[in-house]
Amino acid sequence: MIPQDTVNQILQAAEISEVVGEFVNLKKRGANLIACCPFHNEKTPSFSVSPAKGIYKCFGCGKGGDSVRFIMDLEGFSYPDALKWLAKKYNIEVKEKEFTDTELAAQNERESLFIVSEFAEKYFRDILLNTEEGQSIGGSYFRERGFSQPMLERFHLGYAPDGRDDFYRAATGAGFSAEVLDKAGLISVKDNQVFLDRFRGRVIFPIHNVAGKPIAFGARILKTDARAPKYVNSPETDIYHKSHIVYGIYQAKNAIRQKENCFLVEGYTDVISLHQAGIENVVASSGTSLTVEQIRLIGRFTDNITVLYDGDTAGIKASLRGIDLILEEGLNVKAVVFPQGDDPDSFIRKVGGEAFSRYVEQSQKDFISFKTEISLADIGNDAVKKAELIESLVLSITKVPNPVKRQIFYQEVGRLLNMDEHILITEGNKLLGVQARSTVQKNDGGKVTPLPPQRNLEMEVLSKADTPQEEALVKDLVLFGQTQIGEDYPLANYIFNETGPEMIADPVLQAIYKQYREFWSRGEAPPDRYFVSHPDPRIQEVVIDWESPKHTLSRHWKKYEIFVPDYQDFLAEIITRINFRIALIRVRKEILEIIEQLDTEDEDREIILQEALDKKNREKKEIAEFLGSVL
Ligand code: UTP
Ligand code: MN
Repeated sequence: MIPQDTVNQILQAAEISEVVGEFVNLKKRGANLIACCPFHNEKTPSFSVSPAKGIYKCFGCGKGGDSVRFIMDLEGFSYPDALKWLAKKYNIEVKEKEFTDTELAAQNERESLFIVSEFAEKYFRDILLNTEEGQSIGGSYFRERGFSQPMLERFHLGYAPDGRDDFYRAATGAGFSAEVLDKAGLISVKDNQVFLDRFRGRVIFPIHNVAGKPIAFGARILKTDARAPKYVNSPETDIYHKSHIVYGIYQAKNAIRQKENCFLVEGYTDVISLHQAGIENVVASSGTSLTVEQIRLIGRFTDNITVLYDGDTAGIKASLRGIDLILEEGLNVKAVVFPQGDDPDSFIRKVGGEAFSRYVEQSQKDFISFKTEISLADIGNDAVKKAELIESLVLSITKVPNPVKRQIFYQEVGRLLNMDEHILITEGNKLLGVQARSTVQKNDGGKVTPLPPQRNLEMEVLSKADTPQEEALVKDLVLFGQTQIGEDYPLANYIFNETGPEMIADPVLQAIYKQYREFWSRGEAPPDRYFVSHPDPRIQEVVIDWESPKHTLSRHWKKYEIFVPDYQDFLAEIITRINFRIALIRVRKEILEIIEQLDTEDEDREIILQEALDKKNREKKEIAEFLGSVL
């Protein structure tokens, strides 16, 4: 346990702007500092730090707290771990006492893994720099590869001596137990208590967390012809989860923020070579398929990822899934393929940083052109394969959360494949239907019953309704709710999956929505003429108006009769409209919320709110323009 007076000392020393400033780019704004929030994706800052109060607060996602809370939330540390992190930053000695409780011991175990990893990093470095073996073997390997001294330093590269237990003996000599060395994955223990170093006779690439602490190691073999694996890596430990980290994030994070882009490569050596050539916004997935956690980690610093692929196409197709994942997280993704036989490392060493950047600039493709091109190559005239390609492109697009972006992508695929975009939209809706159907339950009667929408009602009912959009949405529900938009997938399911009654603020429209949904949750549709002959005259009036010929002859209906006679196209249009309406209602709601908060005495907060408001207004305009263009 950390003694209370030490805790107080740490809390006093911790200066919120310094602590937060290690992770995000703070800009002065009045008495406060602002930045893009590290806890959620955003382009305009809604994250504010008040040095006077010693706290931070994000008006976008709501996270807030003091220095300790910040480190806990950002690094996933426990309270004592966060305190110790701060203590280290401010050179405060922590003398812990009374490790009686087993829980405290467990917390301490993580900390001991950090400490032993740091010891190991220093050890491997020391061997590389200050021993004969390290210099002649490890050192000459790095020299041959052309890694400069500053790069060896920046990435804390090292060398593990060839002896079977050199490291083990050094570490136990320094007081570490075999148990902790084993838990950190640095040694392997044979049953008869023989201890072997995991890394032997290899150059060492330490893997750092966002805060710059070593948490694991990759160790590369020196010989090229060996039958042993090229890399030996640390196993998963309490502090190292391979799928949650990307190699180089600590060294790259500032450049990623500044360039507003992150290059994603495969190997440790790619990262280092790019840095050496002056390109520092680069991280590596370390040869495994990309995970959601890795994407979110990058997403803390930028919305834009450019995937740099090696020049052998074999791996590319396998990694396309990573692109879909990036899209699903709402980030923008581009892709670059290097010439056959080259990876980013070999290519940049051949041509230099400038030519490298030019190549990336010129050959980068958005994911659609990229996917289309690499697939079209081996499709030829095969109609089945072409259909598969279309399906996979459309599937990618359905992952994009932003409807405006989605619309643009549909247009682009239409253009690239010379197809009517409405057919693609219809295709997309079918796929959404397949996805959504897995969340639909069958009841006893065999009828399909949609689950009641599980949306969290994070927003209170609005003061004002967006009546035109709400009305259009509920009208589509009443008029076309039972229309099948995919196999076994009526439109009402779609609407109830995407919306909730809290979105409809107008009381009459909300009542219609709720009553429709009540029928639906029992596996029924409202009977014919249910709303037209409704006992509530207000409901009756609204719905009778919808059913009247005036509406069916309105401008866009006419448009369908004339230009888009195909039923599927017509459905695609409905869904598109509904998606945009939902987006519009949402953003309008967010705007109203911000406006409500604007009535504040706090000037700094007002500036931040004003910026957030501008952003939302731009978003709204963008969506409204698109909605206008599809009507
Ligand atoms: P590469 O084979 O491209 O390695 O694998 P590299 O780092 O570029 O090494 P050089 O250029 O041949 O020296 C890419 C990444 O895949 C992981 C490593 O993280 C590597 O950086 N990998 C590869 C392993 O973990 N084990 C292996 O045996 C091979
Ligand atoms: Mn390589």
